[in-house]
Amino acid sequence: MMNTAPLKVAVLGCGVVGTEVVRRLHTSGPALAGRIGAPVELVGIAVRDTRRRRDLDVDPGLWTDDPLALVKRGDIDIVVELLGGTEPARALAVAAMEHGAGVVSANKALLAEHGPLLHETAAVHGVDLLYEASVAGAVPLLRPLRDSLGGDRITRIVGIVNGTTNYVLDRMTETGGGFAAALHEAVDHGYAEADPTADVEGLDAAAKAVILASLAFHTRVPPTAVHREGITEVTAVDVADARDLGRVVKLVTVLERAVGQDDVLLRVHPAMVARAHPLADVRGADNAVLVEAADAGPLLFRGAGAGGVPTSSAVLGDLVTAARRRVLGHRGAAPQAAVKQTASVAGPRSRHHLRVPVTDAATALDDVAAVLRSGGVGIGTVHRRRAAGQEALVLLTKDTDDATLRTALEAVAALPCVSAAPRSMRLLDAEEGR
Ligand code: HSE
Repeated sequence: MMNTAPLKVAVLGCGVVGTEVVRRLHTSGPALAGRIGAPVELVGIAVRDTRRRRDLDVDPGLWTDDPLALVKRGDIDIVVELLGGTEPARALAVAAMEHGAGVVSANKALLAEHGPLLHETAAVHGVDLLYEASVAGAVPLLRPLRDSLGGDRITRIVGIVNGTTNYVLDRMTETGGGFAAALHEAVDHGYAEADPTADVEGLDAAAKAVILASLAFHTRVPPTAVHREGITEVTAVDVADARDLGRVVKLVTVLERAVGQDDVLLRVHPAMVARAHPLADVRGADNAVLVEAADAGPLLFRGAGAGGVPTSSAVLGDLVTAARRRVLGHRGAAPQAAVKQTASVAGPRSRHHLRVPVTDAATALDDVAAVLRSGGVGIGTVHRRRAAGQEALVLLTKDTDDATLRTALEAVAALPCVSAAPRSMRLLDAEEGR
């Protein structure tokens, strides 16, 4: 028989996302109850400082600064973990599951670092563990990867999974301005993490890549094994070069299977993306993820990737799912396919944009091209550019590995006709995503 006793929910953390989740639990109670088959009762909200004034109309008795006591009560059905970071989130999620609660989390760092442990704990205690909001905010992506594509073979994923950096690069493209001012705007809009280093250094995107790999490739890759380059070094000149080449600078996350091997390659880096690529026109804090599957073909998932209101949609979706399962008496963890540890991650090969500042572009081209070619870097096209009073050669290379490119660029930098350190950025072409 259907159990219609209220489902008890505890929320850990009341930041940008937590505030919206609590608000919706309050205002959408009857609608949620209808979909779940039982009312939802918010029984506690754990925060660091209970005295801080918050714009939420909830019973003052719900606030607590003791999250461990809350999750250990023993009568909680679902704990919504929105603390961020790995500790104390890991310890609290484990304690919640040990005390019989399902866990809904938006915490990518937690899942990337401790996903296997959390799944194992959920399985042992027969509770749900859901984390749709941890990747691509509001965009339903993890459940399609795990369930809808569960019978297919996913071959490649390429996406924009960090809203802050997409917003920053979009503003730089829009205004022609620099990185610092654009980051300031992103922080003001509430897209960035508490410490925006995680966003701009690509750590946030790398954690999301690990989660995507576990679901798409059934592979455990430690976050430290993700090849990672952030956007702090991207300049207004890079953005202008990209525009002149019919491209746009984006922070891209790429997951692919190494050819003929079991290993996978995960990488996060800025790229000059061809305008015809489906990721090129993703604006503001939006995310987009292109999934290529053997039978389904290319599938594009796109929408709001950050922000409290959109992300609360994904959190509540998981909450409704976990709650429905409780009401129906399914007290089991949502199944996760066996996950194996990846043996090794190969280094990426890419085409690159090169900007080589020179004293005289007409005479320097032969020397620069000869040094690149003898260093093993094939050249596709060559352009000549002036920016900020500096003459430069802009070259697009053929596929090159990082070590070969680095050594060749050192030799280029030593040429007498080269007036400043060369710059490089990877290219993402239209045919790499359709
Ligand atoms: N800071 C993250 C982003 C929030 O900008 O994408 C959503 O994970």
